[in-house]
Amino acid sequence: MARIRHEGVLVVGAGLAGLTAALAAAPARVMVLTDAPLNQGCSSAWAQGGVAAALGEDDAPALHAADTVEAGAGLVDADVARLLADEGPEAVRRLAALGAPFDRTADGGFAQSLEAAHGRARVARVKGDQAGRAIMDAVTIAVLAARHIEVRTGTKLTGLLQDAEGRIHGVVARIGGRPVEITARAVILATGGIGGLYAVTTTPAELQGDGLGLAALAGAAIADPEFVQFHPTAIDIGRDPAPLATEALRGEGASLINGDGERFMARYHPAAEMAPRDIVARAIHAEREAGRGAFLDARTAVGAHFPEEFPAVYAACMGGGIDPRVQPIPVAPACHYHMGGIATDTEGRTSLPGLFAAGECASTGVHGANRLASNSLLEAAVFGARAGRAAALEAPEPRPLTAITAPELPAAALQTLRQAMSRDAGVIRDAAGLARLLAEIDALEAAHGRAAPLVAARLVAACALARRESRGGHYRQDFTELQSPTRTVTTLGQIERPSLRFAAE
Ligand code: SIN
Repeated sequence: MARIRHEGVLVVGAGLAGLTAALAAAPARVMVLTDAPLNQGCSSAWAQGGVAAALGEDDAPALHAADTVEAGAGLVDADVARLLADEGPEAVRRLAALGAPFDRTADGGFAQSLEAAHGRARVARVKGDQAGRAIMDAVTIAVLAARHIEVRTGTKLTGLLQDAEGRIHGVVARIGGRPVEITARAVILATGGIGGLYAVTTTPAELQGDGLGLAALAGAAIADPEFVQFHPTAIDIGRDPAPLATEALRGEGASLINGDGERFMARYHPAAEMAPRDIVARAIHAEREAGRGAFLDARTAVGAHFPEEFPAVYAACMGGGIDPRVQPIPVAPACHYHMGGIATDTEGRTSLPGLFAAGECASTGVHGANRLASNSLLEAAVFGARAGRAAALEAPEPRPLTAITAPELPAAALQTLRQAMSRDAGVIRDAAGLARLLAEIDALEAAHGRAAPLVAARLVAACALARRESRGGHYRQDFTELQSPTRTVTTLGQIERPSLRFAAE
């Protein structure tokens, strides 16, 4: 197999976490690997809300951290939340300095939106719902201009290079259809989430947990994989992926109604439309299951201003035959974010030396069981930079290497998996469904090998089965109560032990 020796850091993934890591690793040389063209195939560019940070006069990092902890339903690491909140304002200013055109107040401050479960308006936004695209445009330009960074698009991660002691020294990638080994000082996985494992997702469908699955195959510790966030208001117009109707719309006063025109959220939570995301998602699921349907009604709150205030939502609705100025928007919950992932410290270090992770594929403990709205771009900016700086300091000795690779999952098998994940590891879960899902994953693995998406799906399903409680994004209809709060930290080897499966059942 061809081998490339890269003297610096490898970053896999070109969303906000990956590109921020690449910039921060300077002056170390960085090679960024991405299958998709820049600014495509990453959730960051699709983010609508913005970046949460305590920038207002009436705000403070301690308040932001407190809201983060509260939203995470007992599992947030409070020290990590405080670190994220403390570094938030500077992260936003850094993005602005790179050219991200945040909306401004008359006195030059950052205009901020209110989103669910935030105690005050705290989300720095761009033209209503354009934050992700505008931030990624600015960061991409900076990356392309940076002399220490080389970007290789059309490069698909297929494996990790590991020595006998477990250290990661590089990756195996497919470039132009051919496998290539690339060795490096350190590898940062910034491969995004697992939306593509679900039939209904708001994320690019190519995000199928490849980094998570490969890290698990190499023996990395995995944290909280059962915690998947379902965004309540994906626009239900039959598109895959489903376009998002940002929470900022509810922050502006849009309401949720069912097909009878009833404003139903007060029946589910005192904060009604501004309740935590998991509660709103389950309420919408319940209304739809009851046959009443669910709609986001922004006719009064936004109305004629839709095209200029929420251009992405407006375009998506019009493309689906809905005019949101005068019609309620049909909505459904969709897989949106993975709180769990490859366990890391606050500098992105995983349990495997030489392997770092940042952004959605990582789990620092900052999101607990339920991520606070608009903390994801912030997390990518803060922890991406920390991982980049730390990875640049690695200096491993050369060693004989083994390639840990995974086969590709055929398209038909992936579709089977997506249906099964939405059915059995979705908004509502129970033991029977999760056991059926694990059996489906076993069958797919027997037919196609341990493909990374199957490994990632197994982590979600097995840990969801083992967690016999309902907490945050993980709702078990057979175990609706909270147990004492404990994070899951596991390895693939542990979840594959049959004893654990039987214990959970
Ligand atoms: C949204 O705009 O509703 C999504 C923001 C987020 O996922 O944090």
